Amino acid sequence: MEKIVINGGNRLSGEVTITGAKNAALGILPATILGKGEFIIENLPDIQDIRNYISILSKMGARIQREGTTLQIDTGSISGAFSDDVAEESTKMRASYYLLGAMLATYGKVSLPMPGGCNIGARPIDLHIKGFKALGAEVELKYGYIDVKAEHLKGANIYMDMVSVGATINIMLASVRAEGITIIENAAKEPHVVDIANFLNLMGANIRGAGTDVIKVTGVAELHACEYSVVPDQITAGTYMVAAAATKGNVLIKNVIPTHLESITAKLIEMGADVEVYDDSLRVIGKEQLLPAAVKTLPYPGFPTDLQQPMGVLMCLADGVSNITESIFENRFKYVDELNRMGADILVNGRTAVFNGGKPLYGARIKATDLRAGAAMIIAGLVAEGTTEITELKHIDRGYENIVEKFSALGADIQRITEEDSEEA
Ligand code: EPZ
Repeated sequence: MEKIVINGGNRLSGEVTITGAKNAALGILPATILGKGEFIIENLPDIQDIRNYISILSKMGARIQREGTTLQIDTGSISGAFSDDVAEESTKMRASYYLLGAMLATYGKVSLPMPGGCNIGARPIDLHIKGFKALGAEVELKYGYIDVKAEHLKGANIYMDMVSVGATINIMLASVRAEGITIIENAAKEPHVVDIANFLNLMGANIRGAGTDVIKVTGVAELHACEYSVVPDQITAGTYMVAAAATKGNVLIKNVIPTHLESITAKLIEMGADVEVYDDSLRVIGKEQLLPAAVKTLPYPGFPTDLQQPMGVLMCLADGVSNITESIFENRFKYVDELNRMGADILVNGRTAVFNGGKPLYGARIKATDLRAGAAMIIAGLVAEGTTEITELKHIDRGYENIVEKFSALGADIQRITEEDSEEA
């Protein structure tokens, strides 16, 4: 078994370059099914969920070549069928559900197991299904599979009962070739929703309003291949920003879009850090004292739920009482137990966690309970007194490229070892 071992106390310094957004790339890759030809997709992160999608598309018949952060995908020989191992692979991540929208729009039918992903709540897909049905599809859930089919897809007005990133994207995918106009109201506005809309428009789709509450999709007959560079990852950038502030470091975070990070920047400044904003980079300078704060996670442009867990570590370090209200997912505080094992004083009551901060964290054996909690555990190890060992690294590998190497390059005393190595040591 692998683990990350950190000797805490080092201040981070230097610079880190942010890769393309996981949650944009995970919609862009299945979207290539909608067009025949050779795509060139740049700025792709090298993470497990992307490797899973490359494997799925290859098994569907795509010819894929990867050179660094650039992928060439020839979809000319993709077939509409799934082999059993593709179905199995799709259960390893949440974003496999985008295959439903892309396959429905391209082939008129698809059968896929229910998606996997981080265990942070029930995560139903009723809004995805509501969208498919509104477009004229029949949807059946049985034996853990979702069967979707439609003779003909026709545009519709779809009101999203909740703001849903996945459902907004899936309905865009399903409607780009539908007859007529689809209106998605109360749509998600995250940067990755906009990025996927931009990609689809480069493929010949006609999508207007992405990034606002109302997205209008006018169906087109055909889509084609294109070249595209994935937007920088807002959440990865925010993770390094929080780590810089937590370690009282001084880090230049490059290849970002600062407007995507305004909620994090504002909160770090409120807690006493300095943030210098440049055209495509940010410098975060941590200070000796961190001030308490309150955070409520909200759909974009509010504070992102994916940075709730890293922010929780910062609140352990702030002098005084802070709190977080997690309004998006109903079970995203599992990491609190791990922090309390390190000496934190956090009380969770439903959707709110109260942090009695200002006490030191002590190194301990902890685990990553999900992807973003894993990043939070690393940040906790960076600031803790003594040695921290983190296991369950598969969660972290799904979404952070070379995170150990990147923190090490910033001056952290961090390494990734396999269990048998540590027994020899
Ligand atoms: C996406 O998940 C992201 N995943 C999540 O990031 C992110 O936390 C989330 O959006 C919110 O920003 C990917 O993009 C692959 P939602 P998604 O649909 O699409 C409820 C990470 O760490 N809901 O916006 O699943 C849902 O249960 C991951 O990168 C329904 O009730 O999120 C949740 O409470 C973790 N019915 C809320 O809406 C539905 O049909 C928001 O979920 C769909 C969602």
